[in-house]
Amino acid sequence: MPSGGIIARYGDLLELGSLSSAITLEEGATPLIEARRLPRECNLQIRLLFKFEGSNPTGSFKDRGMTAAVSKAVSAGSRAIVCASTGNTAASAAAYAARAGIACLVLLPKGNVALGKLAQSLVYGATVVAVDGNFDQSLEIVRRLPERMPLTIVNSINPDRLLGQRSAAFEVADALGGAPDYHVLPVGNAGNITATWRGYKRYKEAGRIRRLPVMLGFQAAGAAPIVDGRICEDPRTLATAIRIGNPASWEGAREAASESGGNIDKVTDEEILAAYFQLARTEGIFAEPASAASFAGVLKKARQGYFPFGTTVVCTLTGNGLKDPDNAMKVESKLLEAPGDFDGVCRALEQVIGS
Ligand code: F0G
Repeated sequence: MPSGGIIARYGDLLELGSLSSAITLEEGATPLIEARRLPRECNLQIRLLFKFEGSNPTGSFKDRGMTAAVSKAVSAGSRAIVCASTGNTAASAAAYAARAGIACLVLLPKGNVALGKLAQSLVYGATVVAVDGNFDQSLEIVRRLPERMPLTIVNSINPDRLLGQRSAAFEVADALGGAPDYHVLPVGNAGNITATWRGYKRYKEAGRIRRLPVMLGFQAAGAAPIVDGRICEDPRTLATAIRIGNPASWEGAREAASESGGNIDKVTDEEILAAYFQLARTEGIFAEPASAASFAGVLKKARQGYFPFGTTVVCTLTGNGLKDPDNAMKVESKLLEAPGDFDGVCRALEQVIGS
């Protein structure tokens, strides 16, 4: 039987009000994967789990907010949605618009969107505009578009998005039988850390959990406006998903950190890449570079002796590594070449593993 997605599973807890129908692709119910080898390999004295959001229908956590926002938009009679995006929101909006039979317009920063995400938006049938500017500029344009055209914005400035994204916290709490001690996320436009924190608070208010986690967020060092305390005019990071200089939910992220006793910190691109490979090679989890920022953050905090012995740490891995083949191959293209016969392949292999 289909689960019906997060709206069917969490119903009234999501506080979406009445819907004429739920536009769903069976999102949510993503795996919570316990790290087996990393704790020993990295000398981490913690219980570490990964919430692998790359298992969602379009390969990122965005589907949780998009089922909510598109269901609400359709219920309100909207015929077209729009978003600015570093790629994942666009892919998700395009898919849910297709599912609903409405139009989708996406504004993407030209040259800075991972190939898989661009392909998704195009194949799902969205109208794609490559904007000669960054994400922040694209979002400013999107904010004004409804003045000129009948469009519903589905960026996380639409509150329905964050209502839906709270479901990741519900699922973690359901799986663990309570909140973890720490919940760690990458931070870009800052909607997800805001929503995850609100999700835990909502669950506590509903009597489903007794205590709240400490929230930790990580920006890329070249795009770290919240950590640096000022808008970043020219954000730069290879983790293009979080290449954002003026996050829409800046306040929400600060609130999550301060209310929970956590903080927002930054990790370098080198730390992000190291974490990205370590996740793939030690646990078999392929997450996109931006996602690995959360695990890079765990490693940074662990080096500082931040986590008490034996605490439970959940790390959200926001998107699937398959979305960004360009980045993957740029850094790792160690292919062996061999002629198409048995001896030739053996000779090539002997160079690596000896005879
Ligand atoms: N990880 C991935 C893979 C993302 O795509 C994003 C955001 C984030 C982390 C950060 O989440 O913005 O809620 O703080 N991607 C947006 C997009 C901006 O357009 O797809 P956030």
